[in-house]
Order: sequence, then structure tokens, then C-alpha cells
Amino acid sequence: MEAKIKEIIADYDSDKGFLVPILQDVQKELNYLPREALDFVSKNLEVPISRIFEVATFYKTFSLEPRGRIQMAICMGTACHVRGVPLIVDHIERDLDIKAGETTEDLEYTFETVNCLGACALGPVLVVNGEYHGQMTISKTSKLLNKLKKAETV
Ligand code: FES
Repeated sequence: MEAKIKEIIADYDSDKGFLVPILQDVQKELNYLPREALDFVSKNLEVPISRIFEVATFYKTFSLEPRGRIQMAICMGTACHVRGVPLIVDHIERDLDIKAGETTEDLEYTFETVNCLGACALGPVLVVNGEYHGQMTISKTSKLLNKLKKAETV
């Protein structure tokens, strides 16, 4: 982990002004921002840990809690909701054996609900690692989950 973070910091010429993109790259690498990683960035970039926490907790995109390798977010906005999102949420929760907002123990999946994603015409919308899947149904969700699980075992 430390070598990779050093590399990331070097990519930004150890410039403190790039703290946000540096933290974004660290999170991309580790899926979240563990305390040790923040301490390491603080020491190597010579930025007080208090400032790093300020940034890491200010932006919603950062997570200080472990997150899964596969991150799924389903839209709970009105347009998606009326097209059956609650049933899809139930289905995913049962399939992954977690509640929305949680991460599986093996750190493979994080599943969360989000507000309108601005793609209402495509609703219900499920985003998997940044990729939008529109007009989701229970059957399409099952197929997608199976595909993700197969990819895991390859
Ligand atoms: S309500 Fe789901 S994308 Fe807008």
C-alpha cells in the first residue's frame, strides 16, 4: 500500500495543492481511505492529518469505511421509485445478504441507494462501478448479479 501511495504522490510532484486528486487516486486504489493510508499521505505530503480529515469528510465521494470492489448504487428518485425500485432493492439485498448502505464481509460488494441521478428517462437506474444500467427489472438485475459473480470467479 505504501509504495503505491508514494507513487501517487510522486505523480503529483508531491504538490499539496493536489490533495483532493491524490486522495481520489488513493481511494481508487484501495476502494476507500483507511486511517493508515491517510496517515501515510499526511507524513509524505507534509499536510497535517487534521486537514486531510477535513477534506476526506467534506467530499461525499470519499469513504473512510471499507467499501466493496464492486460498488452498486440504485436511484431512489421519484421517477425510478414509481417504476419499481423498491422491489429491485429487496432483490439485491436478499441476493447479497446485506442491507442498502452496507458492504459484504468479503469486501466484494457495496450497495447503496442514492437520490435522482438525472437520468430519469432511463429509470429504474442502477449504477455499477460508474456504469449506468437503465430500465432495470428484477430479471435484468438477476442477470447482472450473476454476470458479476461469474466474473469474480474467473
Ligand atoms: S429518478 Fe432515478 S434518475 Fe431521476
